[in-house]
Amino acid sequence: MSILEGKRAAGEAAAARVKSGMKVGMGTGSTAVWAIRGVGDRLASGEIHDVIAVATSSQSEMECQKLSIPLRSMNDPEINGHLDLTIDGADEIDPDRNLTKGGGGALLIEKIAAYSSEAMIVVVDDSKLVENLGLVFPIPVEVLPLARVSVMRAIEGLGGRPEVRMAERKMGAVITDNGNIIVDVRFSEPINPLEMETRLSRIPGVLGNGLFTQVHPTIIVGQGDGTIEEI
Ligand code: 5RP
Repeated sequence: MSILEGKRAAGEAAAARVKSGMKVGMGTGSTAVWAIRGVGDRLASGEIHDVIAVATSSQSEMECQKLSIPLRSMNDPEINGHLDLTIDGADEIDPDRNLTKGGGGALLIEKIAAYSSEAMIVVVDDSKLVENLGLVFPIPVEVLPLARVSVMRAIEGLGGRPEVRMAERKMGAVITDNGNIIVDVRFSEPINPLEMETRLSRIPGVLGNGLFTQVHPTIIVGQGDGTIEEI
């Protein structure tokens, strides 16, 4: 019994809500991967059919390919920029169901999928529920590399402490699936998530940020004993 069990329970419960014919955004991370596996298993067994997916990262793309889940891009005519459901993890969730995402560096495509979806299910273990976003887990911001210095200065002007996310097992910055860098931002005081999402988006050179305030998702929380709770 562990956090891992909670992640698995939440992911599998979300996979069980995918219906035949749905266009599904497949999220990123160690919890969302269980949802992808669940959908893959249900497709393979014939329980559901005609599901097509959009991957939100190279991780979820590889997982879908391994499981033969048909993939399309957001621009594909079959998707036409609109999804029925996105299932994804989160790094923090506040009581108003605002999210911080991007711990896996995939926030830009994750947000495009989430904001283009009819519905979203967020799958988390119970360690992700917090009172205020941005105090413990930083807000990730995807930045065009040539704008690094000016963006970091602008973020300081908003009261944030920006730090370039550094790679492990490679020297230098983390480079996203889109060829950009990630700046992680911590705040000392509680922020207004909606206001901060907008302010960060307005900085020239910012391509996206990990505050998700516009999705009002269903949240499935997996507990360490393998049970789930829906918020
Ligand atoms: C990736 C994400 C992930 O969904 C988030 O980091 C949660 O990951 P995990 O389920 O592994 O804790 O936003 O960019």
